[in-house]
Amino acid sequence: MVNVTAIAGDIVTCDADAIVVNLFDGITSPGGGTGAVDKALDGAISALIADKEITGKQGEIAMIHTLGKLPAKRVVVLGLGKREKLSANVVRQVSGAVARYLKRIGAKRAATLAHGAGIGGLDAGTSAQAMTEGTILGLYTFTQYKLKKNDEPAKDLEVLEIIEQDAGRLPALQAGATKGTLLSEAVSIARGLVNEPANVVNPVKMAEVASDVATKVGLGITVLGREEMIENSMGAMLAVTQGSANEPRLIIMDYRGDPEHPDNNIALVGKGITFDSGGISLKSAGGMWEMKGDMSGGASVIGAMHAIAQLKPKLNVLGVVPAVENMPSGTAQRPGDIIRAMNGKTIEVDNTDAEGRLVLADAICYVKEKMGAKRVVDIATLTGAIVVALGHVTTGVFGTSQTMVDAVLAASKATGEKMWQLPMFEEYKRQNHSEYADVKNTGGRPAGSIAAAFFISEFTDGVEWAHLDIAGTFMSERTQGHQVKGATGVPTRTLIELVEQLAAS
Ligand code: BES
Ligand code: MN
Ligand code: ZN
Repeated sequence: MVNVTAIAGDIVTCDADAIVVNLFDGITSPGGGTGAVDKALDGAISALIADKEITGKQGEIAMIHTLGKLPAKRVVVLGLGKREKLSANVVRQVSGAVARYLKRIGAKRAATLAHGAGIGGLDAGTSAQAMTEGTILGLYTFTQYKLKKNDEPAKDLEVLEIIEQDAGRLPALQAGATKGTLLSEAVSIARGLVNEPANVVNPVKMAEVASDVATKVGLGITVLGREEMIENSMGAMLAVTQGSANEPRLIIMDYRGDPEHPDNNIALVGKGITFDSGGISLKSAGGMWEMKGDMSGGASVIGAMHAIAQLKPKLNVLGVVPAVENMPSGTAQRPGDIIRAMNGKTIEVDNTDAEGRLVLADAICYVKEKMGAKRVVDIATLTGAIVVALGHVTTGVFGTSQTMVDAVLAASKATGEKMWQLPMFEEYKRQNHSEYADVKNTGGRPAGSIAAAFFISEFTDGVEWAHLDIAGTFMSERTQGHQVKGATGVPTRTLIELVEQLAAS
């Protein structure tokens, strides 16, 4: 992983494989660090602007060989876009793009200005954190199953030095880089779990990974198996797992940041379906492989817990993952089956492909009844309908506690992981009505994501609850900015931010 650090010095005299300066859209004669480098290059940057070869539009990258005019071999000019549109998210995006560019040209050591921390108006820490996240996450790869990594250059970018002339700003820059690194590690853990195929990451493996994380960062961990699920009458989880040859696990990671106030707590409950074939209500073959990522909610919880244990917020946090495989077989549950969840409610299984809400039901009952959870946020690749509603850009947010929903939305604003609330008007609730049981696990085609949220709400009595549907955002079809093709790790950073904001409030 790239090491991002803040260093006192002058970007002009910096000796690195490449130095990165920046340019806002519309600037004709650059100032600050970019201006100093321009001067040292006898006006090469302003000449490019004057000839309209570069404009500073967001993500634009131009390279100039210094030919001995500067100690560094190359200068990379990075477009930051319109100054009034600059945000931490823009910095994160362009930092990802330029990091991949530096890797492509074989730069091992690069030096850079703190993007946006000058006339851009971002504070130093925010800039450095966003740059670090963009750099590390933009360079993320999942290549361990390839013998020949032929589309990758032999060497990776190893060091990115954020160069700062004003020594007073160094501590903030370094703190930002350190925090950005910690968050990127958390996201990388989540991405790795999602990208791994389901023949490797099955429920047992997922529990092993969670245990390793817990041991490494000093978290408590409990893992329940089938026997304990039977003892706790977790009929919904047991029904989903009964068709699979892989043993189920209920993973509970435990961070005690406020031991004197046990009620000052939150449970993060992440759907952990390690493969969702649909069960007897089998999915069609096209794109079914993506369902190896149906444990993305759980993966983001494990990643977030890795960071939370190190950030040490004053709040008790449970990281919970019902890890189960959904398969069709002679022992699988059938459409029409009636099962009983841990809280005693009976469920008519109309469609075995609506399995996520079943495992979440029991997991939420468990954290409520056995762990004393007062606040619950669940995260799930829950419905195809959310992809229709919000596409691959935005995570859907639901909840019966507007306080929790607002807290999630505030956290998402800070991290740039886009989220939007959908309504839970009582009129939708009847869609889950069952002829034979207390509730049915499907609510028909209209507003499928809302009906799914209402199903979960049957199991959230007595807790402040919000629900995140990440079916549209857990995977990216292309590489752009800090996102690379494959698992996104969403919403790991928002979960961490949420916990920190709740601890501070
Ligand atoms: N895991 C899927 C939802 C999903 C779809 C995630 C696309 C990621 C991408 C979930 O278990 C599911 O199958 N939901 C069904 C529910 C339906 C049967 C009520 C769906 O959305 O079709
Ligand atoms: Mn399903
Ligand atoms: Zn699923």
